[in-house]
Amino acid sequence: MLNFYSTAIQNLKEKNLYRSLVSSDVVDFVTIKRDKKNLISFCSNDYFGLSQNPQVKKSAINAINKYGVGSGASRYVTGNNSLYKKLETQIAKLKNCDDAIVFTSGYASSIGVISALVGEGDLIVADRLIHSSLIDGAKLSGAKLMRFLHNDIVHTKNILEENRRKFKKCLIITEGTFSMDGDLGKISELLKLAKNFDAILLSDAAHDLFLGVKASFEKGGGRALAKVGGLNQDFLNHPSQSHSRLIHPLFQRGQEHHLQLGTLSKAVGSLGGYVAGDKILIDYLRNFAKSAIYSTALPACVLAASLTSLKIIEKKNLGVKALKNAQFFCELMKLPKPQSAIVPIILGDNKKVLEVAKKVEQQGMLISAIRPPTVEVGKARLRITFSSEHKKNQIKKLAQILLNLN
Ligand SMILES: Cc1ncc(COP(=O)(O)O)c(C=O)c1O
Repeated sequence: MLNFYSTAIQNLKEKNLYRSLVSSDVVDFVTIKRDKKNLISFCSNDYFGLSQNPQVKKSAINAINKYGVGSGASRYVTGNNSLYKKLETQIAKLKNCDDAIVFTSGYASSIGVISALVGEGDLIVADRLIHSSLIDGAKLSGAKLMRFLHNDIVHTKNILEENRRKFKKCLIITEGTFSMDGDLGKISELLKLAKNFDAILLSDAAHDLFLGVKASFEKGGGRALAKVGGLNQDFLNHPSQSHSRLIHPLFQRGQEHHLQLGTLSKAVGSLGGYVAGDKILIDYLRNFAKSAIYSTALPACVLAASLTSLKIIEKKNLGVKALKNAQFFCELMKLPKPQSAIVPIILGDNKKVLEVAKKVEQQGMLISAIRPPTVEVGKARLRITFSSEHKKNQIKKLAQILLNLN
């Protein structure tokens, strides 16, 4: 039988798809140490450097001193530290939802939420480019999975018109910010379809730079700026002119058609996942989402770190800084204006992306080489992510290295 597994590995190697792990120790906000060499990283999803923030670290250390390292049991036994309640309340507030539930990771949220909400005889209509964790959740659920062309609302509507009535419940799935392409999901339009077709929209905000609900206008500028952490950026592009302080329709209460899923492991700089929404749905998920029930709870230090990070995000406009850094890079590279902190450069060939990433690394910078099955065959790419903590000279250096390679 071992033969099967060794052949599979050999196949991966031949197609330049073999993955290996490299020890990588964090040095500071944007620096990683590999093989005794410091490298400026453009690979991390720690978009605001909050994993290294002194206040965040201090709250985690205080929680370790108070509660120890592990949580010792599932939340439903004795693992439900009182910080869980605070964190869930804070997430619900930021999302302007009735309630929220925290999981041990974004992955655990996806598989737990989807498999609890739908099952055999139900329908899932999902964007073609959704993350693997959402697909795994869909497969685990046993519901019929249909995919719509990326961000294609007409195609989504056609699928719903043809199929919705044949199934009991229906879930539409998209992402707030697509993890490998960096563009934004069409949440407002999909939410309308969810309402019209008696479905629930599940949107994954894992890579959103703007995590909250409220916004205010820059004085005189007429442009909405995220104040409480902000919003999905499509709101920034279409601000209502009539209010000085407003809540985007997406996040208005009574959201029985919208569940907002996300992670605490990326922009929040900690660990965990969540889903926020209507109180009946969250109550249901507390009772039926198995990945939250049959797994040990997060340690208190992680909950404390997440809480402190969310408070920082609530006060500061870190999303705008990260986005501006991505925009600066794209201007230098003459790439289209980015919509998020994720900039893909699609080269197509697996070997080529590995070679380019290697050459960049030799010059002191790290970028990710993304290959199938993470992306479609023939769409291998460099994935470059920006943090609010990157300096202009670091971004300029990366652009120079890449331009000189061409
Ligand atoms: C879009 C998306 N959803 C979910 C996840 C899973 O989140 P986590 O890393 O917290 O498990 C990821 C992370 O890779 C992601 O990119």
